[in-house]
Amino acid sequence: MAKMRTFVVVSHTAPLDGGFSLSDLAGGAGRLDVLCRCAVDAFLLSHGIRKDVVLHLVIRDQLAITLAGSRLRYLNPDERSTGALLREALRLAQGLGPGEEGESTPGITVRWLGLAGLMGTLSEAGLRPVLLNEDGEPLRAAPLPERPAFVLSDHQDFTPEELALLAHAPRISVGPKVLHGHQCVTLVHNELDLREAGWTAGRS
Ligand SMILES: C[S@@+](CC[C@H](N)C(=O)[O-])C[C@H]1O[C@@H](n2cnc3c(N)ncnc32)[C@H](O)[C@@H]1O
Repeated sequence: MAKMRTFVVVSHTAPLDGGFSLSDLAGGAGRLDVLCRCAVDAFLLSHGIRKDVVLHLVIRDQLAITLAGSRLRYLNPDERSTGALLREALRLAQGLGPGEEGESTPGITVRWLGLAGLMGTLSEAGLRPVLLNEDGEPLRAAPLPERPAFVLSDHQDFTPEELALLAHAPRISVGPKVLHGHQCVTLVHNELDLREAGWTAGRS
C-alpha cells in the first residue's frame, strides 16, 4: 500500500482573510498563486487525484489550511478555481476561535495555527520534517524518514526563525538549481513514485 505523503508549504505573504480578487492572485492576494500551484501539483494526476497526500499551507505563521486528498473535492488544475477554494477557507477562518477547526469545502480544513504548532502536531502524529532546500543532500540517494513531512518555502527564503525551528530536520535537495516550490513537489512525488514502483537507475 502507498504511504501517505505530507507536504508543508510556508507562505510569508498570502492573505489571512478572503478579501481579495481571484483575478489578482499574484498581486493583491499576496502570491496566493504560489500556493495554488503547490496544491495542484500535490494532488492532481493527469486523470485523477492522489488520495494519499496531505498538504498544509501555513500562512504568515498564523493560519494553517490543510488539504487532505482522501476527502478532497472540487480541485481543478487551474489556479483561479483553486484560489476560490482557498478563499472559502480564509473566509471561514474569520469565524473560528483559537483551537477551533472548520471545514470550508470537502477535504479542506482551516485553523489558527503557526508553523511551530503545526510541526508539533505532526511530530505527535509520528511524522518527521524534511527540509527541502537547494543546498541539501541529493534526494535521489537520500534515506528518508519512515513518515516524512516535506517542508518548503514560498517565493521567499525561509526566515532565520523557521530555519531554527527546522534545524534538526534533514535538508534534502531535488537538484542543483533553485526551483519553484510546486516544481519541487512534483519532483518529490516523482522520486517517491519511482521508489514505490521499484524502479532503479538501470531499468530498461
Ligand atoms: C522559489 S524557491 C525560493 C526562492 C528563493 N528563496 C529566492 O528567494 O531566491 C521555493 C522553495 O522551494 C524549495 N526549493 C527550491 N529549489 C530547491 C531545490 N533545488 N531542492 C530542494 N528544494 C528546493 C525551497 O524550499 C525553497 O524555499
